[in-house]
Amino acid sequence: MSPRLVRTAGDASGRRDVPLRITVDGEPLTGIEGQTLAGVLMASGRRAWRAGPSGAPRGVFCGIGVCFDCLVTVNGVRDVRACGRRARDGDAVTTQSRVDGDGR
Ligand code: FES
Repeated sequence: MSPRLVRTAGDASGRRDVPLRITVDGEPLTGIEGQTLAGVLMASGRRAWRAGPSGAPRGVFCGIGVCFDCLVTVNGVRDVRACGRRARDGDAVTTQSRVDGDGR
């Protein structure tokens, strides 16, 4: 999956981007309507946003909702797959980790 964001000026399809804003652990990020949360995270330069039980970094692996490597908490709802959830303006995303033993 490419994190590259094709700018509207270079896109021959004539699309018009509608901007949105989310926060990730309190940090504001901008995206465009239609992007998944994983898309917004990757377009911001993030490759990993949680850690597995061994402490290894996790982000997008399958990109199709199968592997559960991309889990985040969204607006207080845990275990949301970032690759399958479209970002909505105002979403508050919190990263999760299983390293601290809390089962996340
Ligand atoms: S990357 Fe595999 S479920 Fe999201």
